[in-house]
Amino acid sequence: ALISMRQMLDHAAEFGYGVPAFNVNNLEQMRAIMMAADETDSPVIVQASAGARKYAGAPFLRHLILAAIEEWPHIPVVMHQDHGTSPAVCQRSIQLGFSSVMMDGSLREDGKTPADYDYNVDVTRKVVEMAHACGVSVEGELGCLGSLETGQAGEEDGVGAEGTLSHDQLLTDPEEAADFVKATQVDALAIACGTSHGAYKFTRPPTGDILDINRIKEIHARIPNTHLVMHGSSSVPQEWLAIINEFGGDIPETYGVPVEQIQEGIRHGVRKVNIDTDLRLASTGAIRRYLDKNKAEFDPRKYLQESTKAMYEICKARYEAFGTAGNA
Ligand code: G3H
Ligand code: 13P
Ligand code: NA
Ligand code: ZN
Repeated sequence: ALISMRQMLDHAAEFGYGVPAFNVNNLEQMRAIMMAADETDSPVIVQASAGARKYAGAPFLRHLILAAIEEWPHIPVVMHQDHGTSPAVCQRSIQLGFSSVMMDGSLREDGKTPADYDYNVDVTRKVVEMAHACGVSVEGELGCLGSLETGQAGEEDGVGAEGTLSHDQLLTDPEEAADFVKATQVDALAIACGTSHGAYKFTRPPTGDILDINRIKEIHARIPNTHLVMHGSSSVPQEWLAIINEFGGDIPETYGVPVEQIQEGIRHGVRKVNIDTDLRLASTGAIRRYLDKNKAEFDPRKYLQESTKAMYEICKARYEAFGTAGNA
Protein backbone atom coordinates (compact mmCIF):
# COMPACT_ATOMS: atom_id res chain seq x y z
CA ALA A 1 0.00 0.00 0.00
CA LEU A 2 1.11 3.57 -0.68
CA ILE A 3 1.69 5.47 2.57
CA SER A 4 3.21 8.83 3.52
CA MET A 5 6.77 9.13 4.71
CA ARG A 6 5.62 10.68 8.00
CA GLN A 7 3.58 7.59 8.78
CA MET A 8 6.43 5.22 7.95
CA LEU A 9 9.15 7.15 9.77
CA ASP A 10 7.02 7.73 12.88
CA HIS A 11 6.89 3.94 13.19
CA ALA A 12 10.64 3.70 12.58
CA ALA A 13 11.29 6.27 15.32
CA GLU A 14 9.02 4.51 17.77
CA PHE A 15 10.82 1.22 17.26
CA GLY A 16 14.32 2.64 16.69
CA TYR A 17 15.13 1.47 13.17
CA GLY A 18 16.14 3.14 9.89
CA VAL A 19 14.71 2.74 6.38
CA PRO A 20 16.94 2.68 3.31
CA ALA A 21 15.61 4.97 0.55
CA PHE A 22 16.71 3.49 -2.74
CA ASN A 23 16.74 5.50 -5.95
CA VAL A 24 14.81 3.86 -8.76
CA ASN A 25 15.37 4.28 -12.51
CA ASN A 26 14.38 0.99 -14.07
CA LEU A 27 12.45 -2.26 -13.76
CA GLU A 28 15.39 -4.26 -12.43
CA GLN A 29 16.00 -1.88 -9.52
CA MET A 30 12.32 -1.76 -8.68
CA ARG A 31 12.03 -5.55 -8.58
CA ALA A 32 15.27 -5.99 -6.62
CA ILE A 33 14.08 -3.53 -3.95
CA MET A 34 10.66 -5.18 -3.64
CA MET A 35 11.86 -8.79 -3.69
CA ALA A 36 14.34 -8.01 -0.91
CA ALA A 37 11.63 -6.20 1.08
CA ASP A 38 9.27 -9.14 0.60
CA GLU A 39 11.95 -11.62 1.70
CA THR A 40 12.81 -9.60 4.84
CA ASP A 41 9.34 -8.19 5.61
CA SER A 42 10.54 -4.59 5.29
CA PRO A 43 8.73 -1.32 4.54
CA VAL A 44 10.03 0.46 1.41
CA ILE A 45 10.98 3.99 0.40
CA VAL A 46 11.65 4.39 -3.32
CA GLN A 47 12.76 7.73 -4.66
CA ALA A 48 12.84 9.29 -8.10
CA SER A 49 15.50 11.88 -8.93
CA ALA A 50 15.47 14.48 -11.72
CA GLY A 51 17.95 12.23 -13.53
CA ALA A 52 15.55 9.30 -13.22
CA ARG A 53 12.69 11.35 -14.66
CA LYS A 54 14.93 12.35 -17.53
CA TYR A 55 15.97 8.73 -18.14
CA ALA A 56 12.65 6.91 -17.77
CA GLY A 57 10.06 9.69 -17.95
CA ALA A 58 7.81 10.61 -15.02
CA PRO A 59 4.84 8.44 -16.15
CA PHE A 60 6.99 5.30 -16.49
CA LEU A 61 8.59 5.85 -13.08
CA ARG A 62 5.24 6.43 -11.48
CA HIS A 63 3.69 3.34 -13.01
CA LEU A 64 6.76 1.27 -12.12
CA ILE A 65 6.16 2.14 -8.46
CA LEU A 66 2.39 1.62 -8.76
CA ALA A 67 3.03 -1.76 -10.38
CA ALA A 68 5.23 -2.71 -7.42
CA ILE A 69 2.44 -1.79 -5.02
CA GLU A 70 0.02 -3.89 -7.06
CA GLU A 71 2.33 -6.90 -7.10
CA TRP A 72 3.27 -6.67 -3.39
CA PRO A 73 0.12 -5.14 -1.78
CA HIS A 74 1.17 -6.20 1.74
CA ILE A 75 4.33 -4.04 1.71
CA PRO A 76 4.02 -0.37 2.76
CA VAL A 77 5.66 1.83 0.10
CA VAL A 78 6.57 5.52 0.16
CA MET A 79 6.77 7.09 -3.31
CA HIS A 80 9.27 9.90 -2.74
CA GLN A 81 10.56 12.63 -5.03
CA ASP A 82 14.28 13.11 -4.41
CA HIS A 83 16.02 16.55 -4.50
CA GLY A 84 13.31 18.88 -5.80
CA THR A 85 14.91 22.12 -6.94
CA SER A 86 11.80 24.34 -6.71
CA PRO A 87 8.26 24.43 -5.32
CA ALA A 88 6.99 23.95 -8.90
CA VAL A 89 8.87 20.65 -9.26
CA CYS A 90 7.40 19.43 -5.95
CA GLN A 91 3.91 20.57 -6.93
CA ARG A 92 4.12 18.49 -10.11
CA SER A 93 5.08 15.39 -8.11
CA ILE A 94 2.26 15.94 -5.62
CA GLN A 95 -0.11 16.16 -8.58
CA LEU A 96 1.30 12.88 -9.96
CA GLY A 97 0.55 11.07 -6.71
CA PHE A 98 3.88 10.98 -4.87
CA SER A 99 3.30 10.50 -1.13
CA SER A 100 6.44 12.42 -0.16
CA VAL A 101 8.62 15.12 -1.71
CA MET A 102 12.00 16.60 -0.97
CA MET A 103 12.41 20.35 -1.36
CA ASP A 104 16.17 20.80 -1.44
CA GLY A 105 16.40 24.52 -0.70
CA SER A 106 20.01 24.20 0.48
CA LEU A 107 20.83 24.90 -3.17
CA ARG A 108 19.39 27.47 -5.60
CA GLU A 109 17.15 26.35 -8.45
CA ASP A 110 20.21 25.44 -10.58
CA GLY A 111 20.89 22.61 -8.11
CA LYS A 112 24.51 23.66 -7.56
CA THR A 113 24.79 27.12 -6.01
CA PRO A 114 24.55 27.08 -2.19
CA ALA A 115 21.46 29.09 -1.19
CA ASP A 116 21.12 31.40 1.77
CA TYR A 117 19.07 30.46 4.80
CA ASP A 118 16.11 32.78 4.14
CA TYR A 119 15.66 31.44 0.60
CA ASN A 120 15.70 27.89 1.98
CA VAL A 121 13.06 28.68 4.61
CA ASP A 122 10.90 30.47 2.06
CA VAL A 123 10.76 27.71 -0.60
CA THR A 124 10.53 24.90 1.92
CA ARG A 125 7.65 26.51 3.81
CA LYS A 126 5.77 26.96 0.52
CA VAL A 127 6.15 23.27 -0.29
CA VAL A 128 5.06 22.19 3.20
CA GLU A 129 1.87 24.26 2.90
CA MET A 130 1.01 22.66 -0.46
CA ALA A 131 2.05 19.14 0.47
CA HIS A 132 0.41 18.94 3.86
CA ALA A 133 -2.87 20.13 2.36
CA CYS A 134 -2.67 16.97 0.22
CA GLY A 135 -1.48 14.52 2.91
CA VAL A 136 1.98 14.43 1.40
CA SER A 137 5.16 14.50 3.57
CA VAL A 138 8.08 16.87 3.06
CA GLU A 139 11.82 16.44 3.49
CA GLY A 140 13.97 19.59 3.64
CA GLU A 141 17.74 19.97 3.65
CA LEU A 142 19.94 22.22 5.72
CA GLY A 143 23.68 22.41 5.12
CA CYS A 144 25.58 21.28 2.03
CA LEU A 145 26.64 17.69 1.46
CA GLY A 146 30.36 17.35 1.01
CA SER A 147 33.40 15.53 2.25
CA LEU A 148 34.92 16.86 5.49
CA GLU A 149 38.20 15.53 4.07
CA THR A 150 38.26 17.51 0.82
CA GLY A 151 35.37 20.00 0.97
CA GLN A 152 34.11 18.57 -2.34
CA ALA A 153 30.40 17.96 -2.89
CA GLY A 154 30.83 14.67 -4.79
CA GLU A 155 30.60 13.44 -8.33
CA GLU A 156 26.90 13.33 -9.10
CA ASP A 157 25.98 15.65 -11.94
CA GLY A 158 23.01 17.84 -11.33
CA VAL A 159 22.92 17.15 -7.58
CA GLY A 160 25.24 18.89 -5.23
CA ALA A 161 27.14 22.09 -4.75
CA GLU A 162 29.84 23.15 -7.16
CA GLY A 163 33.30 24.12 -5.95
CA THR A 164 34.84 23.77 -2.53
CA LEU A 165 32.67 24.12 0.55
CA SER A 166 33.73 25.56 3.90
CA HIS A 167 33.75 23.48 7.08
CA ASP A 168 30.75 25.52 8.30
CA GLN A 169 28.63 24.67 5.25
CA LEU A 170 29.56 20.98 5.56
CA LEU A 171 28.01 20.55 9.00
CA THR A 172 24.39 21.41 9.78
CA ASP A 173 24.13 23.78 12.73
CA PRO A 174 21.84 22.35 15.48
CA GLU A 175 20.40 25.74 16.50
CA GLU A 176 19.68 26.65 12.89
CA ALA A 177 18.06 23.23 12.40
CA ALA A 178 15.69 23.91 15.31
CA ASP A 179 14.80 27.31 13.88
CA PHE A 180 14.35 25.84 10.37
CA VAL A 181 11.98 23.12 11.53
CA LYS A 182 9.94 25.60 13.52
CA ALA A 183 9.66 27.95 10.53
CA THR A 184 8.91 25.30 7.88
CA GLN A 185 7.24 22.39 9.72
CA VAL A 186 9.08 19.79 7.62
CA ASP A 187 8.52 16.12 8.49
CA ALA A 188 12.11 15.09 7.81
CA LEU A 189 15.39 16.95 7.56
CA ALA A 190 18.43 15.99 5.51
CA ILE A 191 21.54 17.04 7.37
CA ALA A 192 25.16 17.53 6.40
CA CYS A 193 27.46 15.47 8.63
CA GLY A 194 30.32 14.38 6.37
CA THR A 195 28.73 12.30 3.62
CA SER A 196 28.65 13.23 -0.07
CA HIS A 197 26.92 11.89 -3.18
CA GLY A 198 28.46 9.41 -5.59
CA ALA A 199 31.20 6.77 -5.48
CA TYR A 200 34.07 9.12 -4.60
CA LYS A 201 33.37 9.94 -0.97
CA PHE A 202 36.69 9.20 0.71
CA THR A 203 40.20 8.62 -0.63
CA ARG A 204 41.31 6.50 2.35
CA PRO A 205 39.73 3.56 4.16
CA PRO A 206 37.36 5.30 6.54
CA THR A 207 38.10 5.26 10.25
CA GLY A 208 35.79 6.05 13.17
CA ASP A 209 35.59 9.78 12.64
CA ILE A 210 34.46 9.71 9.00
CA LEU A 211 31.03 10.98 9.99
CA ASP A 212 30.40 13.60 12.63
CA ILE A 213 28.17 11.36 14.76
CA ASN A 214 28.36 13.87 17.56
CA ARG A 215 26.74 16.43 15.28
CA ILE A 216 23.89 14.00 14.56
CA LYS A 217 23.35 13.59 18.32
CA GLU A 218 23.29 17.36 18.86
CA ILE A 219 20.80 17.91 16.04
CA HIS A 220 18.57 15.05 17.18
CA ALA A 221 18.53 16.46 20.73
CA ARG A 222 17.27 19.82 19.39
CA ILE A 223 14.61 18.41 17.00
CA PRO A 224 13.62 15.00 18.42
CA ASN A 225 10.32 14.91 16.50
CA THR A 226 11.82 15.56 13.08
CA HIS A 227 13.16 12.51 11.26
CA LEU A 228 16.79 12.88 10.24
CA VAL A 229 17.85 11.90 6.72
CA MET A 230 21.34 10.89 5.67
CA HIS A 231 22.06 11.42 1.97
CA GLY A 232 25.15 10.03 0.30
CA SER A 233 24.94 6.83 2.35
CA SER A 234 26.32 4.30 -0.11
CA SER A 235 28.98 2.06 1.39
CA VAL A 236 30.81 1.56 -1.97
CA PRO A 237 31.42 -2.20 -1.51
CA GLN A 238 35.07 -3.03 -2.20
CA GLU A 239 34.07 -6.46 -3.53
CA TRP A 240 31.96 -4.89 -6.30
CA LEU A 241 34.73 -2.43 -7.21
CA ALA A 242 37.07 -5.42 -7.53
CA ILE A 243 34.62 -7.31 -9.79
CA ILE A 244 34.10 -4.27 -12.02
CA ASN A 245 37.86 -3.85 -12.39
CA GLU A 246 38.49 -7.59 -12.88
CA PHE A 247 36.08 -7.68 -15.83
CA GLY A 248 37.23 -4.71 -17.86
CA GLY A 249 36.31 -1.73 -15.68
CA ASP A 250 38.66 0.94 -14.43
CA ILE A 251 37.44 2.56 -11.22
CA PRO A 252 40.10 4.22 -9.07
CA GLU A 253 40.52 3.47 -5.34
CA THR A 254 37.63 4.95 -3.36
CA TYR A 255 35.64 4.37 -0.17
CA GLY A 256 32.08 4.91 1.06
CA VAL A 257 30.27 5.12 4.38
CA PRO A 258 30.71 1.93 6.44
CA VAL A 259 27.43 0.23 7.38
CA GLU A 260 28.46 0.34 11.07
CA GLN A 261 28.67 4.12 10.91
CA ILE A 262 25.14 4.28 9.46
CA GLN A 263 23.96 1.99 12.27
CA GLU A 264 25.49 4.42 14.76
CA GLY A 265 23.61 7.26 13.03
CA ILE A 266 20.35 5.28 13.28
CA ARG A 267 20.94 4.89 17.04
CA HIS A 268 20.94 8.70 17.19
CA GLY A 269 17.91 9.67 15.14
CA VAL A 270 18.68 8.94 11.47
CA ARG A 271 15.54 7.33 9.98
CA LYS A 272 15.92 7.63 6.19
CA VAL A 273 19.16 6.48 4.57
CA ASN A 274 19.61 7.41 0.89
CA ILE A 275 21.34 4.84 -1.31
CA ASP A 276 21.85 4.99 -5.07
CA THR A 277 25.52 4.39 -5.91
CA ASP A 278 25.73 0.91 -4.28
CA LEU A 279 23.00 -0.46 -6.57
CA ARG A 280 24.72 1.10 -9.60
CA LEU A 281 28.02 -0.56 -8.70
CA ALA A 282 26.44 -3.97 -8.05
CA SER A 283 24.45 -3.81 -11.28
CA THR A 284 27.44 -2.87 -13.40
CA GLY A 285 29.72 -5.46 -11.77
CA ALA A 286 27.20 -8.24 -12.26
CA ILE A 287 26.63 -7.37 -15.93
CA ARG A 288 30.33 -7.02 -16.71
CA ARG A 289 31.08 -10.38 -15.11
CA TYR A 290 28.19 -12.14 -16.86
CA LEU A 291 29.04 -10.81 -20.32
CA ASP A 292 32.72 -11.60 -19.87
CA LYS A 293 31.91 -15.22 -18.96
CA ASN A 294 29.14 -15.70 -21.55
CA LYS A 295 30.47 -14.13 -24.71
CA ALA A 296 27.91 -15.70 -27.06
CA GLU A 297 24.94 -14.59 -24.97
CA PHE A 298 22.84 -11.72 -26.33
CA ASP A 299 19.52 -12.01 -24.49
CA PRO A 300 19.32 -8.92 -22.24
CA ARG A 301 17.12 -10.82 -19.79
CA LYS A 302 20.08 -13.05 -18.97
CA TYR A 303 22.43 -10.29 -17.88
CA LEU A 304 19.71 -8.07 -16.46
CA GLN A 305 18.71 -10.96 -14.22
CA GLU A 306 22.26 -10.94 -12.88
CA SER A 307 21.92 -7.21 -12.28
CA THR A 308 18.65 -7.74 -10.38
CA LYS A 309 20.21 -10.49 -8.23
CA ALA A 310 23.21 -8.34 -7.32
CA MET A 311 21.02 -5.36 -6.36
CA TYR A 312 18.69 -7.65 -4.40
CA GLU A 313 21.59 -8.81 -2.24
CA ILE A 314 22.57 -5.22 -1.39
CA CYS A 315 18.97 -4.27 -0.55
CA LYS A 316 18.51 -7.33 1.64
CA ALA A 317 21.75 -6.63 3.53
CA ARG A 318 20.71 -3.00 4.17
CA TYR A 319 17.18 -3.93 5.36
CA GLU A 320 18.77 -6.36 7.81
CA ALA A 321 21.55 -4.01 8.96
CA PHE A 322 19.28 -1.00 9.50
CA GLY A 323 16.67 -2.94 11.51
CA THR A 324 14.07 -2.39 8.79
CA ALA A 325 13.47 -6.14 8.47
CA GLY A 326 10.37 -7.45 10.20
CA ASN A 327 8.60 -4.07 10.24
CA ALA A 328 6.44 -4.21 7.08
O1 G3H B 1 20.87 12.37 -5.15
C1 G3H B 1 21.49 11.79 -6.03
C2 G3H B 1 21.03 10.55 -6.66
O2 G3H B 1 22.10 9.66 -6.66
C3 G3H B 1 20.44 10.80 -8.03
O3 G3H B 1 21.36 10.74 -9.08
O4 G3H B 1 20.48 12.48 -10.69
O5 G3H B 1 22.04 10.67 -11.46
O6 G3H B 1 19.68 10.14 -10.85
P1 G3H B 1 20.86 11.02 -10.60
P1 13P C 1 24.78 7.76 -2.78
O1 13P C 1 25.40 8.41 -3.98
O2 13P C 1 25.77 7.65 -1.64
O3 13P C 1 24.19 6.45 -3.09
O4 13P C 1 23.62 8.73 -2.24
C1 13P C 1 22.36 8.82 -2.89
C2 13P C 1 21.52 9.95 -2.42
O5 13P C 1 21.79 10.61 -1.44
C3 13P C 1 20.30 10.24 -3.21
O6 13P C 1 19.60 11.36 -2.76
NA1 NA D 1 15.36 12.80 -0.84
ZN1 ZN E 1 20.79 13.04 -2.07
